[in-house]
Amino acid sequence: MTPTDLASLEAIIQRHGPQATELLQILRQIQARFRCISRDAMRVVADALAVPLTQVQSVTEFYTFLTTEPAGQFDIRLSDSITDHMLGSRELAGYFCQRLAVRPGQTRADGAVSFSFTSCTGMCDQGPAALVNGLALTRLDRGRIDQIATLIDAGTPLERWPVDLFQVDDNIHRSSLLLDGHIEPGSAIQRVFQQGREALFDTLDQSGLRGRGGAGFKTAAKWRYCYEGQEGAIPGDPAVKRFVVCNADEGEPGTFKDRVLLQRQANEVFEGMTVCAALVGAQQGFLYLRGEYLHLHEPLQRVLEERRQRGLLGRNILGHQGFDFDIRIHLGAGAYICGEESALIESLEGKRGNPRNRPPYPVTHGYLGQPTVVNNVETFAAAARIALHGGAWFAAEGTGKSTGTKILSLSGDCARPGIYEYPFGTAITRILEDCGAKDVFGVQIGGPSGTFISTNEFDRKLAFEDLATGGSFIVFNHTRDVLEIARNFTHFFAHESCGFCTPCRVGTALLRNMLDKICQGHGTPHDLVELTHMARLVKTTSHCGLGQTAANPILGTLERYPDLYQERLKAISFEPGFDLDGALEISRRLTGRDDAHAHLEQAG
Ligand SMILES: Cc1cc2nc3c(=O)[nH]c(=O)nc-3n(C[C@H](O)[C@H](O)[C@H](O)COP(=O)(O)O)c2cc1C
Ligand code: SF4
Repeated sequence: MTPTDLASLEAIIQRHGPQATELLQILRQIQARFRCISRDAMRVVADALAVPLTQVQSVTEFYTFLTTEPAGQFDIRLSDSITDHMLGSRELAGYFCQRLAVRPGQTRADGAVSFSFTSCTGMCDQGPAALVNGLALTRLDRGRIDQIATLIDAGTPLERWPVDLFQVDDNIHRSSLLLDGHIEPGSAIQRVFQQGREALFDTLDQSGLRGRGGAGFKTAAKWRYCYEGQEGAIPGDPAVKRFVVCNADEGEPGTFKDRVLLQRQANEVFEGMTVCAALVGAQQGFLYLRGEYLHLHEPLQRVLEERRQRGLLGRNILGHQGFDFDIRIHLGAGAYICGEESALIESLEGKRGNPRNRPPYPVTHGYLGQPTVVNNVETFAAAARIALHGGAWFAAEGTGKSTGTKILSLSGDCARPGIYEYPFGTAITRILEDCGAKDVFGVQIGGPSGTFISTNEFDRKLAFEDLATGGSFIVFNHTRDVLEIARNFTHFFAHESCGFCTPCRVGTALLRNMLDKICQGHGTPHDLVELTHMARLVKTTSHCGLGQTAANPILGTLERYPDLYQERLKAISFEPGFDLDGALEISRRLTGRDDAHAHLEQAG
């Protein structure tokens, strides 16, 4: 390492502070500066942060956006989400590679460019999408790819690329309680001071607000628990440090509503976090922003700074003596599992995003083992408006068990993909009409981990008691292949499994391989039995929500469309125990061969 490189490495460490909790943030910056995390860099970081070298290495290996081999000067990652596939990303990938003269998964010999695939980038309403050095590129087509290739070949720095390539639209088609207008910064916080803690807790309770991240836990109960602590504790004990965390990891394919909330209503999200801090007695908050939303990082920092200037963050907020609270943004680095709240906290602490054992839950043992509220972006935005307008105002919409509205991210086969806010209880047919969906075959609600519903279920309702969703709503028409959809989702889970527990680490890979075999027409009736057995095993024995839902796409489609699976099976009476094609695939990949059937031709 040259003295200049060492100096810039040390500057990065100093900028963040040499604490172990900053490890991931420091590694992100090193990756951005040096295009990889070299062994030498790992040693410097390990020494400075006083953490074992193995920890630095294992964190580096965990996150997709960190690499030990140099990425290209322009690192392109094409979104591999099903919605991007539906918009033609597969064909575009070939064209991209041809224009850039690079192979998938590789860096071009001159180091100028690298190309790979990445999980959903949260741009399903304006795909096909990709990232270049972490920044989102939207609405890709051949014309745009030509433009990008020219810019790369000319070595044009990203700051000088046309802004249009990076344009991210909100695409709001239906707004209601949360998306209508804006609230005055500070107005919801004032309510806490005017009404007092207990009254505000009651307001939140009356609103019936449940977490918008998917699981639907009652927000008032979570916040109250964080404030009061476990049995025997002193409520609000000032000796206990508490934290407020906003989960903006939004990695579920098909979800992008938090992106829009953060782009247009960040003030309200931060306001909700500050209201929470006032109620639970927290002094520090974090926004965990997924790495794919790097384009939002600077604008969000600006909003935070403006709030500090206006006395809405920092010491003695709004002149209220003793109410100190500030928010820091932590960037993720390409790991879907970090949306799971305990994995998110591990990641916030600078570690690998492995989910913790629960209980204890984050609300009592969260960040650094302290009581921590973790809520979704939309939950905080809703809490701010509830503090301002009251619980009854919110509860007047929705159903008894699911009050208020839900913001949906709609994508797939429809004329108007984008953001739609509906009262809970809205029927699926209504939503499909509004977004201009025609010839619909099915809808995936809640992303790959959610539920696939077919035509005879479209009168079902959006609600925790019927169809719960964190926000993903993907429409498929009759031209789509159900097995290919299940296959894409199964690949996603195999890729995103954190590897901590065996049923998920091994099981999701086996499910992927089995489904590949069936989709490629090599499956037998025995494979189908094995697939079902393995899917149930992964579902029932995995450690966290990822593994427990990873088999949903297979189990759901097997239940609804058994015939489609049967049709794909090989019409043979014997059941081969060995898949020659599958076994040869690895060697083909290793040797860079693209002649899947060569061995059959030779045999012929
Ligand atoms: C694999 C996995 C991924 C998750 N991803 C997210 C996410 O991106 N955003 C989110 O708010 N919740 C996500 N969750 C749910 C969180 O664990 C947690 O329940 C949520 O942040 C709590 O906030 P809420 O009560 O406001 O919904 C995920 C859960 C699992 C199991
Ligand atoms: S279920 Fe999967 S994602 Fe969850 S801990 Fe186990 S390996 Fe990790």
